[in-house]
Amino acid sequence: MGIVAHPMPQKKDATKTVFFTSLITEKMKILVATEKPFAKKAVDGIRKIVEDAGYELALLEKYTDKADLLAAVKDADALIIRSDKVTAEVVDAADKLKIVVRAGAGYDNVDLAACTAKGIVVMNTPGQNSNAVAELVLGMMVFMARNQFTPGTGTEIKGKRLGVHAYGNVGRIVAKNGKALGMEVLVFDPYVPAEVFAADGVKAASSIEELYANSDYLSLHIPATAETKKSIGYKLLMSMPKGATLVNTARKEVIDEEGLAKAFTERDDLKYITDIAADTQAELNEKFGKRVFSTAKKMGAETSEANVNAGLAAASQIVDFFVNGNTKFQVNK
Ligand code: 3PG
Repeated sequence: MGIVAHPMPQKKDATKTVFFTSLITEKMKILVATEKPFAKKAVDGIRKIVEDAGYELALLEKYTDKADLLAAVKDADALIIRSDKVTAEVVDAADKLKIVVRAGAGYDNVDLAACTAKGIVVMNTPGQNSNAVAELVLGMMVFMARNQFTPGTGTEIKGKRLGVHAYGNVGRIVAKNGKALGMEVLVFDPYVPAEVFAADGVKAASSIEELYANSDYLSLHIPATAETKKSIGYKLLMSMPKGATLVNTARKEVIDEEGLAKAFTERDDLKYITDIAADTQAELNEKFGKRVFSTAKKMGAETSEANVNAGLAAASQIVDFFVNGNTKFQVNK
């Protein structure tokens, strides 16, 4: 109980907020809803930030039933999620929700239109889990180069060409790490100015076709958007050099699975490793054996460090939003 400053969404332009101080009788409730829970250290840190601000923390972890999320979100003022789906139904069930923070980078799991229509601010925590994902890319490349850690002669990644598709927070670290390991790095990102590539000393391909045709390893870092969904398929894969490996720590939706299967049928040298199982993963495994591999559950951001970074950033962003109206990381502006 107490006097706190908090934002009230305006009725007309719901994503803009006005701030005032009001007497409220109940503590604001911050719900952490994570089907894939944060490490304990991260939850403890989130709790401290939330409680120090005078709010209450509610935890919904490892839920398997959507009904649990619908019930938990009912009286939540703020929501922290990971890849958890915030659908129109979830938004509809949330009577008091003012802000959703996706503790991570990709927010394709959040129905932005539904949130915006209800005046709910949506944020992500860019960069906070990037190193973890970038390190997994290295591990995946080595894993595939060494016959999935089974006996036999493998290859080294030193001296190979690494294509980085999209030069965001993860792509930049992957490029840097690749260079450090003696790989020849080529990047492609039409949204990044040439000066950035020059400053980082990375070679930029002038087209997506040039990137794929010159990559022994191709690491995907594009988000899943209307433009990118199913954009990586037959043509690009067929253009890759002999023995090339596609590494996906981005989203399964960006792959045209039918096109991939066709290319892999025609070329027995291509390989695919993914951190997000394809819808047709069982078929791919059966048809292509050790040329394909999927982790059991998305694990790119599954490090204690990334959980702490992203989880605490999410909690801090919520407090900063309620207290100061900071919307720096808002993605539905
Ligand atoms: C992200 O978009 O930040 C990553 O895909 C990590 O997702 P996760 O929080 O579900 O592990």
